Amino acid sequence: MTNEIKTIPLASDHGGYEMKTFLAEKLRASGYEVVDYGTHTSESVDYPDMIHPLADAVAQGKFPLGIIMCGSGNGAQLAANKHKGVRAALCWNIELARLAREHNDANILSLPGRFIAFELAWEMVQVFLNTTFEGGRHENRVKKIEI
Ligand code: RB5
Repeated sequence: MTNEIKTIPLASDHGGYEMKTFLAEKLRASGYEVVDYGTHTSESVDYPDMIHPLADAVAQGKFPLGIIMCGSGNGAQLAANKHKGVRAALCWNIELARLAREHNDANILSLPGRFIAFELAWEMVQVFLNTTFEGGRHENRVKKIEI
């Protein structure tokens, strides 16, 4: 843990459940508090049921950043981005996770739980949590995302 963010909310469906469990352990071992919005088993569920409450909490300012997962990462990202003020980025490598913060001021990282290695996901989470928005030329672009 290298910045001031101490509490990280996580949410997934069954497709991201194993990755979420892995990341929660890694985060806790690194000194973060984890708020787990579920799901809590590998039983099939509908991803919006877990993703919307997390995205709402981020939109309300309860957490600066959040991490979500489903099998592909697509459904989770689509649901999260319905919330005003949420900028959820679907990423599958470290550079994309870095750029999501530096250029897009993304506040939610969406991960494809069935398509990338868990260790890579953990590296991406660390980069996402410890990278700041560059501002500058990106400031206006990000402002223009909201309609
Ligand atoms: C669940 O089988 C799967 O459809 C879901 O995790 C996600 O990939 C949807 O976008």
